[in-house]
Amino acid sequence: MTEKLAAIRKELKKKLKKDRYEHTTGVMYTAASLAMCYGEDIEKALTAGLLHDCGKFAPPGEQIKLCEKYGIELTSSELDMPALIHAKLGACLAEHEYGITDRETLDAITYHTTGRPGMTMLEKIIYIADYIEPNRREIPGLAEIRGIVFQDIDRAVHLSAEQTVQYLSSSGKTVDPMTVNTCEFYKNRR
Ligand SMILES: [Fe+2]
Ligand SMILES: [Fe+2]
Repeated sequence: MTEKLAAIRKELKKKLKKDRYEHTTGVMYTAASLAMCYGEDIEKALTAGLLHDCGKFAPPGEQIKLCEKYGIELTSSELDMPALIHAKLGACLAEHEYGITDRETLDAITYHTTGRPGMTMLEKIIYIADYIEPNRREIPGLAEIRGIVFQDIDRAVHLSAEQTVQYLSSSGKTVDPMTVNTCEFYKNRR
């Protein structure tokens, strides 16, 4: 890990709640392992994994204010589901507060919650690492995804998007259209 990354890690340890920081570390190393498997840049995977939830240091109301400050436009479903906001905000903070300039790394942070059709390998790695990292609570289907992700990342992305859509629908929550699009796109790639 570079000195720059170690410094960011130290700062995030102070800013994030303990559980969120543990999750962050889990995502960072899971992403690095997937990068090794799929020939992706390990440093970028560590960086995006480390910063993917940096927007969560603030409660939702404050996140919305920060979006206004940085001129980040929010969609109606993001305003409906404030849990989505930290992704865009996180990419913005990664760039402006933590000095990350690599567009691919920033995009991996932006799309880590909803995914998107046609993700880059780095985007898929962060999306799925967020879902499977070792500290995640066991939910139905998680073991299957963990079992296949190092052989077939597209299938793992499809299954996790499908489970997210099912979980949100069955609990009466709004499903972001982008999550549905991600699910459909990766279903058809199988
Ligand atoms: Fe997140
Ligand atoms: Fe996360």
